[in-house]
Amino acid sequence: MADATDVERLFTFDAVVMRGIPDSLKAEALRTEDLGEVDLEEARKHHEAYQSVMRDQLKLHVEVLEADESLPDCCFVEDCAVVVDGVALITCPGSPSRRPEVTLIKRILGGGLGQEIVEMTEKGATLDGGDVLFTGKEFFVGLSSRTNQKGANSLANAFPNYPVSGIKVNGHLHLKSMMSMAGPGIIAVGSSDHSQKAIRQIKKVSNFDYTTVTLPDDAAANCVYINKTLLHCSQDEFPESYKVFAEKFPKTPRVAIPNNELFKVDGALTCKSLLICKKPKV
Ligand code: GLY
Repeated sequence: MADATDVERLFTFDAVVMRGIPDSLKAEALRTEDLGEVDLEEARKHHEAYQSVMRDQLKLHVEVLEADESLPDCCFVEDCAVVVDGVALITCPGSPSRRPEVTLIKRILGGGLGQEIVEMTEKGATLDGGDVLFTGKEFFVGLSSRTNQKGANSLANAFPNYPVSGIKVNGHLHLKSMMSMAGPGIIAVGSSDHSQKAIRQIKKVSNFDYTTVTLPDDAAANCVYINKTLLHCSQDEFPESYKVFAEKFPKTPRVAIPNNELFKVDGALTCKSLLICKKPKV
């Protein structure tokens, strides 16, 4: 079982895969509700800010794949794979329109990034990476409109060393639309009834103790903990949640990254990247 050092290691990465934003996203990307038109120029600026933090601040190798106009959601690479400790499970996304996205992701992860590729083979199994919360000790899988129990079983088969528990998702696209890891053993979670119900399920099924940090805004509960740094929402987008991050993580290096344009098409901060460790396992 993973100890504290091991858990920190599992949140340490040296490469990141991202993908450009196609023009087609504006009209054709999937969305759960109409939150207004996406400003593509702004969305791309935010995407570049994200890449710059990864490359210039965290010194990661950043692989930015070319956008594909025939795949309007292709910038949300997180849904295409689950990567832990050198193993990459290539998913079968719940939305058929998104399934062709995995081809390029598989090629990149199994190629220069040196990950061991595992494919989902069970008929009817679907899994979006946005439904997969990995705590370093176990997986929680959102059972949502995109991810089913067979998909959760595929994940369990791919990562036999970790317990996997299904968590019912209501009111949101993905499990990580309302929570994410904000540090080893720390789950950031939104304050809506749906979010609170989901975290109660987690606490009930888990054998581990997690600290929870509750954010006033569900969307702000999607943050990225990487290499001891926390990437989270900007003050302009979610001022109250921003304040909570500042108060609860006074010693953690934090970087605010705006995301209000891609949020209109259900894109959260974790959706935009796949975090990879190229170094051999220790
Ligand atoms: N727009 C992201 C998704 O629906 O998968």
